[in-house]
Amino acid sequence: MIRIAIDGPGGAGKSTIAKAVARELGIDYIDTGAMYRAVGYKMKKEGISADDEKSVGEMLERTEIDFSGGDTLLDGNIVNEEIRTPEIASAASACAVLPAVRSKLVDLQRRMAQTKSVIMDGRDIGTNVLTDAEFKFYMTASAEERAKRRFDELTAKGKNVRYEDVLNDIEERDRNDMNRELNPLRKAEDAVELDTTSMSISEVTDRIISEIRRGL
Ligand code: DC
Repeated sequence: MIRIAIDGPGGAGKSTIAKAVARELGIDYIDTGAMYRAVGYKMKKEGISADDEKSVGEMLERTEIDFSGGDTLLDGNIVNEEIRTPEIASAASACAVLPAVRSKLVDLQRRMAQTKSVIMDGRDIGTNVLTDAEFKFYMTASAEERAKRRFDELTAKGKNVRYEDVLNDIEERDRNDMNRELNPLRKAEDAVELDTTSMSISEVTDRIISEIRRGL
């Protein structure tokens, strides 16, 4: 059984790479960001504020999050598209500071990785969720490059967005994710750092696969 952790800031390409590596190695991919997004989405839908910890806790008790065949399921419904908006990215980052949210999701993530080989991406996988993962990577890219990638992705989907707004969102989310008290984003001491600013998707994937094959 192998566990692979990939951490890094939003828009660094973690999920694209993790999916490709999972396919190549024939193991499961767990997108922990999607789990925080699903919680942020439900809070927004129910009008629950991140300041109202009691309501958040009560909501979490009746919340089920799972993955099936590449789909993200929130209370049994597929929410793949709904959670991929800039608003929900901010809501996810805001709810990710709450102890109740983190403890529920981290628990779930550890259970998902208990019985099978996985590649899991997020912010605190190497430092907290799977501290004993066999392979750890920390993927970065400049904020401008990450904003450009996100902007291209959104405009390709027909979304009408401004590059400056995408960059502002990315920088604000970085501040939030790196400065929160509980399990902030940082590189695990034993993680391999990859700056992907001028690397293609296949270059990063090949590099990760070769590190894994070398270490097996
Ligand atoms: O990777 P992403 O952009 O889908 O993540 C959305 C937000 O969820 C991110 O801004 C912070 C939070 N998150 C987290 O706190 N811990 C994780 N392991 C994954 C995501």
